[in-house]
Amino acid sequence: MINEIIKFKEVRSTQDAARRLVGKKKELAVIALSQKMGRGRHGRHWYSPSGGLYVSLVLFPKSRPETLPLLACLAVIKTLEQYGCSQASILWPNDVLVDQRKICGILSEQYKSAYICGIGLNVNIEEFSGTEPNATSMLLDRKQKFDLESVAVSLIDKFNTLYLEYAGQGLEIRQAYHYIGGIGEPVEIITSRNRETGIVHGIDDDWAILIRDEHGVIRRYRYGEVKKLRW
Ligand code: BTN
Repeated sequence: MINEIIKFKEVRSTQDAARRLVGKKKELAVIALSQKMGRGRHGRHWYSPSGGLYVSLVLFPKSRPETLPLLACLAVIKTLEQYGCSQASILWPNDVLVDQRKICGILSEQYKSAYICGIGLNVNIEEFSGTEPNATSMLLDRKQKFDLESVAVSLIDKFNTLYLEYAGQGLEIRQAYHYIGGIGEPVEIITSRNRETGIVHGIDDDWAILIRDEHGVIRRYRYGEVKKLRW
């Protein structure tokens, strides 16, 4: 459970700042108001101007660490609900979309005995560059600015509730089914071995995605990146 928040004005990446704190052996959150070298999944850059919320949670889960990104997703969705944003959905494996646009990305990394769960939430970002064409923010959705500190506290609070609830046995994946978006939509899935296109058929109990290929065969992927082909 997180009961310490360490704040920075600007860091290279909160993931790196969090790594330096793993030795404290304490569950805590690192927050920054901007990042010079924000990291995304698959080695990508994460657009991190001031106005966004950049959080890294240092966690020592007792079980099922693979479900942490999903817990973070659910905490983000509950926070967005609290602030009256439009209905959010999950784009597999753990992007949060509002109005079919990405509002939050999650990056979970193992470091020594800890798991560092990074959450980038677009709170008060007014515009996105050409490199983030399908992004949105709470500001763009609600046409108002939000107090970053309160959003951060609310997010960590919601994460704590879910984390405590699932501390014993890990998250029951079915909890997240309700929020899965994109079923029936065309996507491209990129794995370390290949790229395939198909239609999203569903998600199974291990949080693997099921994609129907052009021959009607349903294929199962545990890892990869999904790109929507229709926005
Ligand atoms: C993705 O969608 O590719 C994941 C983006 C994760 C971004 C967050 S922002 C806070 C933390 N610090 C980083 O450098 N990255 C994560």
